Amino acid sequence: MNGIILSGGLGTRLSPLTDAVSKQLLPVYDKPMIYYSISTLMNFNIKKILIITRPDHLESYKKLLGTGRQFGIKIDYEIQKSPRGIAESLIIAEEFIKNNKVLLILGDNIFYGLNYKFYKINSLKKDFGARIFTYKVDNPSRYGVVQLEKNNIISIEEKPKKPKSNLVATGMYLFDQNAVKYAKTLKPSKRGELEITDLNTIYLKKKKLKSLQLNEGSVWLDAGTFNSLLQASQYVQTIQERHNILVNHPYDIAKRKKWI
Ligand code: DAU
Repeated sequence: MNGIILSGGLGTRLSPLTDAVSKQLLPVYDKPMIYYSISTLMNFNIKKILIITRPDHLESYKKLLGTGRQFGIKIDYEIQKSPRGIAESLIIAEEFIKNNKVLLILGDNIFYGLNYKFYKINSLKKDFGARIFTYKVDNPSRYGVVQLEKNNIISIEEKPKKPKSNLVATGMYLFDQNAVKYAKTLKPSKRGELEITDLNTIYLKKKKLKSLQLNEGSVWLDAGTFNSLLQASQYVQTIQERHNILVNHPYDIAKRKKWI
């Protein structure tokens, strides 16, 4: 399985912090934000990673991460010229994905304490469809909202005014080899983007979209606003100091997995 980290966007909600620096390179306590999503992919045993970023930020990412060898992984890079939607990342990554399954993660999403083995993502069959990782929140209308009936998804709506549940899609998605083909059929939404929720809806209509609810005790944070960025830093500091561990450090994970 290959992994994609989408690390572009304008980061307007964090301006002026993001006027000269990519959002996903801002510090979350003691590491650049993107370390956290790289770590999540590594924890899923994914060693081949594509980072998609803006043309003006590419050099900074290469300077920070290089080929990924220092973490025992392989990092490639692609450019998204302007933020035309999360689903566009799959089209950009067509060459990289080829006929493989792919795990797509947003570079500003932080996951911790996931029961990685439980999801068995590496044993999924060909044409398994798509999987979204879901989490219960108290402010669902900011996200893609998922409605379940007997554990089956019956609807997924992007930022609805009246959410049908408090279960939302996090910024991590698993797709079979049909994703690029389906993404190419999408039309831009009202906000001019190829919406990831529209891609998931294609899978839903084919009865191939399933929800993987994050295990109890795991944490999902997105670091896209001043408050959530600060909270994420405070969370990482608390856990690291209390337990004397490193939260989501690729070097630490690589050592534990004996990849370096
Ligand atoms: O965080 C989870 C949510 O992410 C999901 O619940 C929603 O269904 C999904 O649409 C998305 O919502 P957001 O409104 O948070 O997405 P946003 O436009 O803020 O983009 C998320 C990240 O992806 C952000 O770090 C920038 C990056 N991005 C976004 C777009 C649209 C890109 O690199 N390129 C893009 O074209």
